[in-house]
Formats: sequence, structure tokens, C-alpha cells
Amino acid sequence: MSLRKTQIVAAVAGAALLLVGTSACSSTRDTTSGTTAGSTAAAAGGLIGIAMPTKSLERWNNDGAHLEELLKAAGYTTSLQYADNKVEQQITQLQNMINQNPKVLVIASIDGTALGPVLAQAKAKKIAVIAYDRLINGTADVDYYATFDNYKVGQLQGQFIESKLGLKDGKGPFNLEPFAGSPDDNNAKFFFSGAWDVLKPYVDKGQLVVPSGKAPASDADWTKIGIQGWKSETAQSEMDNRLNSFYQDKKVNVVLSPNDSLALGIEQSLDAKGYKAGADWPIVTGQDADKANVKNMLVGKQSMTVWKDTRTLGDQVAKMVDQIVKSEKVTVNDEKTYDNGKKVVPTFLLPPQVVTNDKADITKSLVDSKFYKAADLGL
Ligand code: BGC
Repeated sequence: MSLRKTQIVAAVAGAALLLVGTSACSSTRDTTSGTTAGSTAAAAGGLIGIAMPTKSLERWNNDGAHLEELLKAAGYTTSLQYADNKVEQQITQLQNMINQNPKVLVIASIDGTALGPVLAQAKAKKIAVIAYDRLINGTADVDYYATFDNYKVGQLQGQFIESKLGLKDGKGPFNLEPFAGSPDDNNAKFFFSGAWDVLKPYVDKGQLVVPSGKAPASDADWTKIGIQGWKSETAQSEMDNRLNSFYQDKKVNVVLSPNDSLALGIEQSLDAKGYKAGADWPIVTGQDADKANVKNMLVGKQSMTVWKDTRTLGDQVAKMVDQIVKSEKVTVNDEKTYDNGKKVVPTFLLPPQVVTNDKADITKSLVDSKFYKAADLGL
């Protein structure tokens, strides 16, 4: 169905919803009155739709597989779909899921502002919606949000740089190149502001210098250095451009990268320019503990990653799904931070964690916890 048709259907669905006057803000939810609820058997199980953004990033494959496994073990059937980072494709997948009357939709959105019309269709059928990892904006038809503390992710990256460089002790100046995530991902602004709130004061004092001039004047300016679709190749060519244009006679000392996919591209660019690990390789931050990046950490090409154990997110979301289906009170721990422009979405926040490139730290965090096998990392 075209976007235009989607909007018309959604408008009709939205109007129907207004007529029945459903309350969208409660932390508990009665799905048994929905059109899909029926027998006791259905209440014990039923279909759960899971929409993930892309298979191209390791984390989303892990997220989808883990959540699907948990839900199946709990007696649900699942429809797990990946949308190749294409907004239209995700909308079509959601429409197909809605046609099958799932109990709950779990959605890691591609563009957090594009799902209002399709979620109105879900709401009209009393299908509950959980925003997974990324907030869905501009609609009241999202019931819950589960994520890691996104501001904290950025803050941990900023604090890591602050402490590695001795910025609190007045050291500097150091050459910094900052990057930000995809402008259509609501998380990216939290990552950036968490980091920039730590680092900008040092830019203002001259302890951090940004030779490319790509230092956002404020948190709100982050989209100017955002990398669309979180693409490694785009980050790589952006880093190539900065190094070619501004670093003929100097070295970059630190790169603020919001996640591992960008870090990978940046590291490839540094490699190509002849930077050497253990010699003049800059501090590079990351997020997700993707396997390729952890391997780079082990050879000194990435300094840290902010690890979000996606298994704990899946565990939490599976629990929320079950609570929704059983009409129990849904566990949340933040009811004030995540305002999506239409409502404050009740949220469960999990804590992110720094893993440094120290081998013992990697082993303790990522191998002992069974996130990776030692052999996967070449350990
Ligand atoms: C997620 C990150 C991920 C990025 C790119 C963000 O929304 O929170 O973990 O690195 O998307 O997929």
C-alpha cells in the first residue's frame, strides 16, 4: 500500500478511535476487550509482531533472535520482520502484522516520526505497542517504551574521553573530531547531548580543538554532523574528507563516535591514512560491543564501547508483553523523561556499561557473561 493510502486508512482508523474514546495514557492495559481476544487459549499465547530496522547491524539480529526465542518459550507465536532500514518497508510490514491481529507489536523504528498513521490502525484494533530501544514520536498510540538510558550512553563516552585525556586537570589542547548518529533516530540526540554536555566546556576553554570546524554550537545542532542510517561507509568517507582537508600538518587525537558502526568506518579511514595502533592512533569511542569492534579494541584500534546487553532488553520486553497480554500492571521505572510530543511514554530504562579495550575487562564483561565465546573474539 502506498504511503498516501496508508495515511487515508490511518485517518479513518484514527477517527474511529476518537469515537470509542480509548485512554492511551494508563500504565495498565486491558487487551481482553480487544477484537482479537477470544478464548482462554488465545490469552495464554497469541501472536506477537516484532519489527526490527535492519539485518545489516549485528545488534538487531541479536535483539530479534533473543526476543523471539523468549516469546516462543513463553507460548507465543511470533512474526519477526527486518526492514532493510527502509521506512516504507517497515510500515508495510506493520500493516501486514496488524492484519493478522497480534496481541502486541514490538517496534524498533527506523524513522521514529513516521509511524503515527500505521499505529492508529493498531490502536483501532486495540493492539498494544511497545517501542523497542528507539522512541516512536508524534503519536499517542504507543503504550510503552523499553530502552537503555540513552543520555547516559553519551555521557559515558564523554566522561571516558575526559578522563583519558586528563581534561579535568587542565591538559590539552587535543584535536577532536565529533560524530553523531542518524538524524531520524530519536536516540541519536540523547547520545550526542550526553557526550557534548561533558565535552563542550573543554571546547569552549580551548582544551579540545576541532580542526574541521564541525563542533556543534549547541546540543540542538547535532544533526549537522549526523550520519544518515548509521552507515559505516558514510562515516568512513566523512572521516576521509576531514583528514584530507584539515590534517595535512597535524594528527587527530580523539574521535567521538556515538556507536560501533560509525567507529568501524572511522577506524578504516584512520588505517588508510597510516595511523598506527599503539603509536599515533587516536582515542575512538563506540557503542554496542559489535564483534568487529571488540576485535578492533583488542588490537588497539578502538578505546572503548558502551555495552548494552541486549539480552536484558529482550528479557524486559518479553516480560512487558506477558504483562500486557495478561492485563497485569506493566513494570516501568521512568514516567517523566520520554515525551514523544503527544504523551510521556511510560518507560523501562536499563543501565548501559563501559567496556574498555583492556583484555581483562573484555573477558570479564563480554566473555564471562557469555555474550561472546572467547573463540569468537580470537581470545
Ligand atoms: C541504537 C544503537 C545502535 C544504533 C544503530 C540506535 O538506535 O540504540 O544501539 O548502534 O541505533 O543501529
